[in-house]
Amino acid sequence: MHPEQLRARPQRVGRSRAAKTAAAKTHDQSPTHPNRTSWRTNRFARTPTGSLDSPVSTTLTQTHDERPELSGPNTDYDPVEVTPLKSEEVEAARDAALAAIAGAADLDALKQVRLDHAGDRSPLALANREIGALPPQARKEAGQRIGQARGAVNQAIAARQAVLEVEHEERMLVEETVDVTLPTDRARPGGRHPITLQSELIADIFVAMGWEIAEGPVVEAEWLNFDALNLGPDHPARTLQDTFWTEPVENHVVLRTQTSPVQARTMLTRKPPIYVACPGRVFRTDEYDATHSPMFHQVEGLVVDEGITMAHLKGSLDHLASQLFGDGIDTRFRPSYFPFTEPSAEVDVRCFVCRGVDSASCRTCRGEGWIEWGGCGVVNPRVLVACGVDPDVYTGFAFGMGIDRSFMFRHDLEDLRPLFEGDVRFSAAFGTEI
Ligand code: DAH
Repeated sequence: MHPEQLRARPQRVGRSRAAKTAAAKTHDQSPTHPNRTSWRTNRFARTPTGSLDSPVSTTLTQTHDERPELSGPNTDYDPVEVTPLKSEEVEAARDAALAAIAGAADLDALKQVRLDHAGDRSPLALANREIGALPPQARKEAGQRIGQARGAVNQAIAARQAVLEVEHEERMLVEETVDVTLPTDRARPGGRHPITLQSELIADIFVAMGWEIAEGPVVEAEWLNFDALNLGPDHPARTLQDTFWTEPVENHVVLRTQTSPVQARTMLTRKPPIYVACPGRVFRTDEYDATHSPMFHQVEGLVVDEGITMAHLKGSLDHLASQLFGDGIDTRFRPSYFPFTEPSAEVDVRCFVCRGVDSASCRTCRGEGWIEWGGCGVVNPRVLVACGVDPDVYTGFAFGMGIDRSFMFRHDLEDLRPLFEGDVRFSAAFGTEI
């Protein structure tokens, strides 16, 4: 340690090295300086080799007058020599800051400029700290100079900040603008098929009446599709419904030609009372044209309970018709034949366009006032027996109609093919929903 640093002159805590160096330079460092305390006379001074001297007796025996004089106030200390406080330095730091602020292109850049030129480690902040090292008479002037420079920098930052914020805001408004007139190349969300929606609407109508929805497989046992429903092996109806057989034929498995096998499945697995509706796909070897398709949709209805009559059947179908086609739309029965019902009927629904008034010019019903809808009847006791239901206790009714047909009437559709060709533009027109 240099003896100079051991002087008894009060030292400021935290003075920078620059200040110390400057202060040191202003003093005579010759060993003969009268203010200097010899390392030999300081009790705690280190020897040149670094070991602590023990408090030697010569020091202890010295009288007050014999002790070396302590240094007084440092009157010849020249603050002008503190480099960071020189006016050229301060001006240069201020100008550099102002140039950087003016050059900050965006808010991020300005943030960095603020750190570099107005932050704790910036040249002006460091110079500001040096002010404290000056004697009181020099502090004021230096303080003013630095304060003005810092003020100018802070003002410039604030002004630039305001400008950049406005710019940012305006840029955001432009960048985030959504041009709703631009065409979109986004994949449109898919939709549910109109027939699916129609099937669900029909199912909902039955559920609202307290019925259940039953389902069966589309690949069905021949026995359930025909035999259980009173169509014997040679029954002409078996060939009337042009059947898709699966191979090997000996397995007696078909693509179901109707939803009626779900009747049999339901009676075989549940005990009456039974109130079920069964919507689903069916298959026949039909040509594909405006009114036929090898795959189409039916909904089957089956009720088995005590005391069920044709009147219950009529009431149920009238309700379904009015729910699907509009208030006041009812049905009529025409005598017919189905192996699984006795008596059987064809069911027509009142034309919901002309409602039977001036029907001659009606395109929808072609002058009939009625539209063919499906088949129905009282469940044949032979079917009840085949499916394990006691015909002496229970009676029932059943019906079946085309869902696609119902959809076509409802929407005045003359060709059913668009229903099966998967063009979303067609589906979307019917209000497909996710
Ligand atoms: N399954 C018949 C068909 O596809 C329709 C049908 C008629 C169903 C009378 C029935 C019914 O349940 O009782 O043509």
